Amino acid sequence: MAKNKDVTIVVLAAGKGTRLKSSLAKVLHMAGGRPLVEHVVRACAGIGPKKVVIVVGHQAEKVQAVTAPFGAETVLQQPQNGTGHAILVSRRAIGNAKYVVVLPGDAPLVRTDTIRALIQKHKNGRAAATILTAVLADPSGYGRILRKGGDAIAAIIEESQLTAEQRELNEINSSIYCFTTAKLWPALAQVKPNNAHREIYLTDVISVLNARGETVLAEIAADSREMLGCNTRADLAEVDHSFRELKREALMEDGVTIQLPETVVIDPDVTIGEDTVIEPCVQLLGKTKIGQRGVVKSGCVIHDSVLGDDVVLEPHCVITMSRIDAEAVVGPFARMRPDSHVKRGAKIGNFVELKKSMIGEGSKVPHLSYIGDTRIGAKANIGAGTITCNYDGFHKHPTTIGNKAFIGSDTTLVAPVRIGAGAYIAAGSTITENVPADALGVARGRQANKKGWASKKRRELAAAETPKKRSKKRR
Ligand code: UD1
Ligand code: MG
Repeated sequence: MAKNKDVTIVVLAAGKGTRLKSSLAKVLHMAGGRPLVEHVVRACAGIGPKKVVIVVGHQAEKVQAVTAPFGAETVLQQPQNGTGHAILVSRRAIGNAKYVVVLPGDAPLVRTDTIRALIQKHKNGRAAATILTAVLADPSGYGRILRKGGDAIAAIIEESQLTAEQRELNEINSSIYCFTTAKLWPALAQVKPNNAHREIYLTDVISVLNARGETVLAEIAADSREMLGCNTRADLAEVDHSFRELKREALMEDGVTIQLPETVVIDPDVTIGEDTVIEPCVQLLGKTKIGQRGVVKSGCVIHDSVLGDDVVLEPHCVITMSRIDAEAVVGPFARMRPDSHVKRGAKIGNFVELKKSMIGEGSKVPHLSYIGDTRIGAKANIGAGTITCNYDGFHKHPTTIGNKAFIGSDTTLVAPVRIGAGAYIAAGSTITENVPADALGVARGRQANKKGWASKKRRELAAAETPKKRSKKRR
C-alpha cells in the first residue's frame, strides 16, 4: 500500500471526557472490544505516515501504554485548552511534514481508506484545509459545516454557537482534517479563545483560512457511521453496536452462521472457521479462535481460548484462556478456568469446573465435578460429583489420573495423589493415598444394616410423648 511520508498524523487524545461522567479518560473507554484511541491509531498506521503523534493529557501514561505499541509518539498537553491548543503544542513534533492530518481520539470507526481519500482530495484540490464531513439525520452534538457554494467551506460553527436558522444544518464536522502545514500555523496563530470555555478551537481555523483567502474543501464520508464521535455513554453504545455489526457481517461473509446476530458480541481479533454455528446471546472475546463446523450454543462466554474443529459447546459455558480440541463436547453450564485443556473427543458435562487441568482424549467428566491442577489420561471416566482437593489452605497440589481409570461417583481425591491407569475407585471414597494401576481403591466406612431398627425407634418415640400433648390432641 502507498505510503504517505509527507504526512504527519496528530490524534487528539488529551481530553477528560466530562460528558461521560467517568474516572477513566474518554479515549480509554472501550467500544468494539478495544479502547477508542487504539482503533484510531490502527487506522492511522495503515496510511504509512511519516509519524503518528498522540496528544495526551488526562491519564497520559495509560493512553501512551495503549498507543506506543503502534509506534506512535506522544506530546503532553497540560492543561487542555482546546483542540486548536492541542495542535499548537504538537508543533515541534509535526516538524517539517508538508501535510498534517488531524483526528479526534474519540471517533474510532474511521477506516484507513477514508483517511486516505481525504488526503487525496486535499492534495488534488491544492487546499489549505480539507475537512471530512458527514450528513446526519440527527446532527446534534456536532459542529456544523457552513458551505459557501460548491465544494468550498466558509466555517465550522460549534453547536453552542449556532443561530436559530443554522440549527437546520445537517452536515457535521467529523474533526478529521488534512492541513497544508505551512498554511495552518499562521491561521492558527490568529485563533482566539472566543467561546464560553475560553478554549482555542481548531474549528475556528477554518473561518480564519477563509479570511486569508485560502481554499478549504470538504470530503463527505461515504459511510457516515464512520464519523460517529463518543462524547456520551449513549454514543459509546452506538459506536460499539456499529463495530459489533461490522465484525458479524465479516464473519457471516466468511461462512459462519450467526443466529439472531444482534445478540452476539464478537471481539475484533476473534476468528471462526466455516460452517460453525453461533447461537443467540454468545460472547466471543479477546483472541479466541474457533475451528470449522462447531456449534457454540446460547449463553456461552469464551475469552482468549482456542477451539478445534467440530467442537460442541452446549449452552451457558464460560471458557477462559483454555483449549478444547476437535470433536470434544463441553457443557451445558461448564466452566473452564485458565490453562485448562480438553483433548480430542473428550466430554465435559453440566456443572463441571476445570482449573489448570488436562482432560485426555475421549475421557469423560460428565456431571458436577471440580477438577483442579489435575492431569487425566485418555478414556478415563470421572463419576458424578468427583472433587479434587487441590488446596490445603497454603499450597496447591497436583492430582494425576491414568488412562482408562474409573473414578466412582462422589469421590474426593486429596492431592497430591496419583491414580494408576485402569484403576477403580469405589464411589464415595476419600482417597488420600496413591492407588496403583488396575487396583481398586476403597476409602469409606463399611455399611451395616440393623434389622428392625426403624420400627423400634418409632415405638420408643411414641411412648415418650407427654400425656399433656396427647390430651391436647384429643380435644
Ligand atoms: C469536536 C469538534 C466538533 C466536531 C466533533 C466531532 C472542536 C471545538 N469541536 O467537538 O466540531 O463536530 O469534535 O466529534 O474541535 N482534545 C484534546 N485537547 C483538548 C480538547 C480536546 O486533546 O484540549 C481531544 C479530546 O480528547 C477528543 C478530541 O480532542 O478526543 C475532540 O474533543 P471533544 O471534546 O470530544 O470535542 P467535541 O465536543 O466532540
Ligand atoms: Mg468528541
